[in-house]
Amino acid sequence: GHVLVLAGGLSHERDVSLRSGRRVAEALREIGVDVSQRDADADLLSTLVSEPPAVVFPLLHGTQGEDGAIQEVLTLAGIPYVGSPPGSCRQTFDKPVAKGLLEAAALKTPPGAVLSQATFRDLGAAALLDALVARLGLPLIVKPARGGSSLGTSVVTEAESLPSAMVECFAYGQAAMIEQKIDGTEIAVSVVDTGSGPKALPAVEIVAESGTYDYHARYTAGTTEYFVPARLGDAVAQTVADAAVKAHRALGLRDLSRTDMIVDHHGTPWLLDVNVAPGMTETSLLPQAVRAAGIGLGDLVRDLLVVALN
Ligand code: DAL
Repeated sequence: GHVLVLAGGLSHERDVSLRSGRRVAEALREIGVDVSQRDADADLLSTLVSEPPAVVFPLLHGTQGEDGAIQEVLTLAGIPYVGSPPGSCRQTFDKPVAKGLLEAAALKTPPGAVLSQATFRDLGAAALLDALVARLGLPLIVKPARGGSSLGTSVVTEAESLPSAMVECFAYGQAAMIEQKIDGTEIAVSVVDTGSGPKALPAVEIVAESGTYDYHARYTAGTTEYFVPARLGDAVAQTVADAAVKAHRALGLRDLSRTDMIVDHHGTPWLLDVNVAPGMTETSLLPQAVRAAGIGLGDLVRDLLVVALN
């Protein structure tokens, strides 16, 4: 059987996924692994049945890829894959659910609230948003409760721009998560487990030229400066590594994940998001951490595929 990389799909992160898939397939070919890449389209199910691959690396981002749907399909088809079980994906992709699970594990997340589009429409935005600003203060981050790559996400610095931020967010989904914007250093900590338990890779520090690590800053080379390892003291570096491993365990994740955080000026990490299918593009964070750890991306992926097969 062959190795199948699944990339594309129909989420808003389709282009990112295609780039992730190409990069991983290339890295595997470079070390001599026989790999094919295919989209998640209408023929996927019949192909999985007629020509079952030995093992799959699902690199679909966003809905269907990270919400447990593709993992459910692969589980039902009895095909081994790299990544987390369907239920763990589902709860991690749902930011409000994940937030509750992280808080229960004594990890800090920014104070926030969740607002459905229906409530926003029915109750009249003004009073609701005034109450939110009164409770949480400014600036705020508004993001889709289920989403990725910063799509539909806005930084709100004045109350007047909250309604338009909400409307933009609802273009990507039916619920918005609104959180305090924590001041500090933006970092991402990837966790990999190639059979001996989850281990944190070096933290990647993110300094977007524009000040906001949005879709453009994520995927346009030269628009963001990265420091790997992040410029943190040894004690804080250990704290953020421990937090990422704890988040990985608390959400029931397997094989790989990436936790995005802000480290405040006390050295306390505030968790923003955990990803079950971290981006693998040329500018993505996990590949940079892998390189800093002195590991080849192809070698890491091959090890993950081997673990999935056993
Ligand atoms: N959601 C994108 C792929 C990432 O977090 O890397």
